[in-house]
Amino acid sequence: MGNMKKILSNIFKNIISRKDTEKFIAESKSTELKKTLNIFDLLILGIGAVVGTGIFTIIGSAIAGSSDGAGAGTAIIISMLLAALASLFSALSYSEIAAMIPVAGSAYTFTYATMGEFMAWMVGWILMLEYAIGNITVATAWTGYLAQLLKGFKHILPDFVTQFPIWLRNDFRSIYAMCDKYGMDVHDKMPFINLPFGLEVPFAINIPAIFIVLFLTVLLIKGIKESTRVAAIMVFVNLSIIISFVVVGSKYVAPENWVPFAPNGFEGIISGTFIIFFAYIGFDAISTAAEETKNPQKDLPVAIIGTLIFCTILYISVALVLTGIIPIKSIDIQAPLAHAMRMIGKNWYAGCISVGALCALTSVLLVYQLGTTRIFYAIARDNFLPKNIMKVHKKYKTPYIITWISGLIVILGSLFMDLNISAELCNYGTFASFVIICIEVLILRKTEPDRYRPFKVPFCPWFPIFGIILCSCFMLYKGISGGISALYFLLWIAIGLAIYIVYGYKNKRLFP
Ligand code: ALA
Repeated sequence: MGNMKKILSNIFKNIISRKDTEKFIAESKSTELKKTLNIFDLLILGIGAVVGTGIFTIIGSAIAGSSDGAGAGTAIIISMLLAALASLFSALSYSEIAAMIPVAGSAYTFTYATMGEFMAWMVGWILMLEYAIGNITVATAWTGYLAQLLKGFKHILPDFVTQFPIWLRNDFRSIYAMCDKYGMDVHDKMPFINLPFGLEVPFAINIPAIFIVLFLTVLLIKGIKESTRVAAIMVFVNLSIIISFVVVGSKYVAPENWVPFAPNGFEGIISGTFIIFFAYIGFDAISTAAEETKNPQKDLPVAIIGTLIFCTILYISVALVLTGIIPIKSIDIQAPLAHAMRMIGKNWYAGCISVGALCALTSVLLVYQLGTTRIFYAIARDNFLPKNIMKVHKKYKTPYIITWISGLIVILGSLFMDLNISAELCNYGTFASFVIICIEVLILRKTEPDRYRPFKVPFCPWFPIFGIILCSCFMLYKGISGGISALYFLLWIAIGLAIYIVYGYKNKRLFP
């Protein structure tokens, strides 16, 4: 009985123990990570993390609808503005805190300084949804675009390259879904899957996704500066292609395609907002690299807000051109931009779009892998994970063990996770972390009113409050309108809670 009382009292002490802001800043000053990033690198990281699956793939179902929700039609531009608005309030809040506490670990670290250990752990756990699970979505989509690109070379490259077997480029769930679609039993021998001799039950492994994640893991171990250089090339290629889509496509816009503007009314707009939100996720990844930034107080807010404004303008232009050149019901939901170009007779251009999409998805993967490792790093530094995984590589000065762990998580996930569910889970995780960041600004303004703030959220407390309301409403709307992802999200929270309780009583993370 006495023992139980001690355990409960330790758990309670841990739950409310906050880590002092000064301690974070002192730790970050003694970091072994190299401070090499400037404003340009941060903008590249931001745009590299944001522009990806959302604008190249998910925009199709956000406009035209899918089995999971009604489409917004041309009113997708309203959905985009709503998603941007929800992101803006959180971006401002991220900027205020990131400039004030420029330490690796993003929302996890900020939560430790404001809401105590328990919430910090939960936020770290939720961020895993955003980064690692989000990356599973992107790695899976990467394979899809690679297959699209290779198809374009069918007269040049051998068949085994352009049409490599379905079971070597899909996860097993997708294979089961294909069997369902063709009314086949999974135990039948299926000619279209072309399984090797002796395998009667569908077996599938997404080799390209594994390959790209392994490649990026090695790259990240070699160094963050090298990684941002690669990201810069990718961002340059994909932005050039998206901008030329807008320029080339704008000549073919027929305004009658924009009518009706919102074919599914309010429901379509809100459902579109939840889906297209995925396209905005990523600007917060900039703050995970705060410790490696030369001048974080000045550069972080500019990079975060700059990324958001730039991407919103780009996305709205793409949406207007896409909905303007073909009727909404003809929009493809797998490769909408490439398909639209094919519809207006620009086949060669469709191939270029696949190249742009591959670059975009590669840079998202890169930045998200970077984000995952830096969050792990911050969590391990606080003893939630064994400290020896923080070891920094002698030559490259990067946390190589954590980088490998992050890579392996995505590889394992891509073996069995469904693309849509991982995207929705990622959205839940991100909305939740945005709500928490806005709450933190309000708390810090009360608890540390005199601390120097190089950047301040304007119209506080209203902007953070609007952020909390908007993000919560989108989560609630999606939760109420059904879908398995809401259940998975709750399950994820419950597992995080259970892990905390197992570690909670150990009383080893108190920071007096
Ligand atoms: N915003 C990122 C993307 O669209 C996650 O891929």
